[in-house]
Amino acid sequence: MRNRLWATASILAAVCLLAAFAWWYRVNVGNKSDSSLTSTVAKSPHVAEHVCTECHSEEATDHQSSGHADTFHTTVESEAARWLNNRTFDDPERPYSYAYHFDEETGLSVSIPKQFGTESFPLPYVLGSGHNALTFLSLVPDRLGDTIGVEHRVSLYRNDDGWDLDLTPGQRTHLPQQEVEHFGKVMRGDKLTSCVACHTTEGEIFRQRIEDLNPHVGCQNCHGPGREHVTAVENDTQDGYIGFTEQSAREEVDMCGRCHRSAHMDANEKESPNDIRIVRFQSVGLVQSRCFTASDGRLRCTTCHDPHKTVSRDAIHYVDRCLDCHRKPDAASCPVSPRTNCIQCHMPAIDVHRGIEFHDHWIRVRSDVPEATSTKDSDE
Ligand code: HEC
Ligand code: HEC
Ligand code: HEC
Ligand code: HEC
Ligand code: HEC
Ligand code: HEC
Ligand code: HEC
Repeated sequence: MRNRLWATASILAAVCLLAAFAWWYRVNVGNKSDSSLTSTVAKSPHVAEHVCTECHSEEATDHQSSGHADTFHTTVESEAARWLNNRTFDDPERPYSYAYHFDEETGLSVSIPKQFGTESFPLPYVLGSGHNALTFLSLVPDRLGDTIGVEHRVSLYRNDDGWDLDLTPGQRTHLPQQEVEHFGKVMRGDKLTSCVACHTTEGEIFRQRIEDLNPHVGCQNCHGPGREHVTAVENDTQDGYIGFTEQSAREEVDMCGRCHRSAHMDANEKESPNDIRIVRFQSVGLVQSRCFTASDGRLRCTTCHDPHKTVSRDAIHYVDRCLDCHRKPDAASCPVSPRTNCIQCHMPAIDVHRGIEFHDHWIRVRSDVPEATSTKDSDE
């Protein structure tokens, strides 16, 4: 009898707890994620990114596998950070050895044991998909209590079977001006905000953390905030949303160029005989091309790239785009190779840093007809 009572009471208690949790979840989590699509309290002009997925599954699936969906993580969730646990790196310029430690709850941290003992410096965020490289970012207070960013001095570079450790671009010969700079380069103001903004969709740096973080280059970074659009679709009033159907070539190039023209990894590369900014910053290069200036606004990034997909490595895909214009009877055609291999001579791959290659988007006749640094284009 007593056992039965106990059992009933426990079940009742469990049911109450469950109901309370369900209520709490709806109020606190359900609303935020907008999964019902009916949330009336429009706090932010953005909706959660997964809301877009519900109606646009094709774009969403493509986007998931592109670098854009993978540009900003906490180190807690990073396999590469885990890999660094208990590894060390000897600074080639300073008498330091960096020692890394990974913790399941707090993520990655680093210390410089010989000089500074066991005092460890947190590395909470990691930028980049790691297709080429990964760089760590910390947010710490300065002497006045304002938040500053520290771009870690050591980055991970992809090699054939994992990672190499080396100095972060732009940090060679950088002399530490204050204590935290033993761990990396200090960034504040616009430099810090844009570092986060180019790699995320939403997020406010506030007291050494990022509030309302919506990481990666998501739908609403390129398309703008989507709440009005979702509401309009739901209410069957299709207005209130500006998509890209009306965007001119120049506007599109500038939109992509918000991020693809950055000068954030520039320091050493300037010594290169090619102006490396042009090589690395596709939007800056492309608009110099005659193909862009003489084609009445018909050339844009999406002429050659699906903005939702990872970049195609199929050389024939690009040659076909060139020939869409250059095969026309009244168009200039190539006296050297009218049908093949356009990319290796007119948009060659150029090594910008430690073997990381970018294709020069300033399409032109080059005096340095390149020894193709890449063999990708030669198998057409
Ligand atoms: C908010 C900033 C931002 C905007 C806007 C942006 N990009 Fe990117 N893009 C990035 C970042 C950051 C990466 C690096 C991703 C990584 O870590 O691999 C990237 C990578 C890429 C890549 C290589 C990644 C891959 O998977 O192939 C292509 C191609 C690309 N962007 C094209 C575009 C085009 C085209 C546009 C405009 C339609 C655009 N991007 C707009 C930030 C941006
Ligand atoms: C103006 C926008 C912009 C700013 C500011 C910016 N990035 Fe990027 N970042 C990009 C774009 C675009 C790419 C992809 C193309 C490239 O590598 O240049 C990229 C690529 C990267 C990559 C390589 C990813 C990969 O594997 O290909 C790393 C690492 C990175 N950024 C880290 C940082 C860090 C750390 C900061 C701040 C100190 C920063 N970026 C600031 C736009 C930006
Ligand atoms: C890097 C910038 C970028 C990102 C990120 C991005 N888009 Fe787009 N999207 C574009 C551009 C540019 C166009 C127009 C050019 C085109 O149709 O190829 C476009 C077109 C579209 C279209 C219209 C397609 C059509 O055929 O008319 C839809 C729908 C769309 N995007 C949804 C999404 C969704 C959903 C996401 C997130 C999963 C997303 N986009 C992420 C840049 C982006
Ligand atoms: C409830 C379903 C629904 C949701 C959620 C939704 N969309 Fe749409 N979206 C539509 C429909 C329907 C259209 C076609 C409307 C039209 O062509 O007039 C559309 C059209 C678009 C277009 C093309 C607009 C153009 O100018 O051609 C883009 C881009 C787009 N959506 C992006 C997004 C993004 C980004 C999100 C997330 C913030 C999102 N959508 C969420 C249903 C939805
Ligand atoms: C005429 C065709 C064409 C146009 C237009 C074009 N690209 Fe590319 N893009 C290419 C080719 C070719 C590659 C190299 C593909 C490969 O690796 O095989 C490439 C590669 C890239 C990459 C990967 C890194 C690199 O440079 O290899 C990014 C990022 C990129 N393009 C961004 C852009 C952006 C942003 C625009 C608009 C400003 C743009 N592209 C316009 C042809 C084009
Ligand atoms: C949207 C149409 C269009 C596309 C796509 C296009 N071009 Fe062009 N291109 C032009 C026009 C227009 C000119 C100027 C022709 C003239 O001078 O009569 C031009 C000029 C050129 C020139 C001469 C440049 C100079 O400075 O003298 C080269 C080389 C060239 N294109 C190569 C290419 C290659 C390679 C591709 C593909 C990666 C390509 N084009 C894609 C339209 C295009
Ligand atoms: C082996 C290197 C090579 C390849 C491959 C190549 N080109 Fe060229 N292209 C050149 C050179 C060199 C010139 C300058 C020729 C001259 O001025 O006599 C040139 C000139 C041009 C011009 C300018 C013609 C004019 O009348 O001003 C265009 C347009 C062009 N190429 C387009 C293309 C396209 C499109 C492809 C691919 C179908 C291509 N090229 C493949 C090396 C190449």
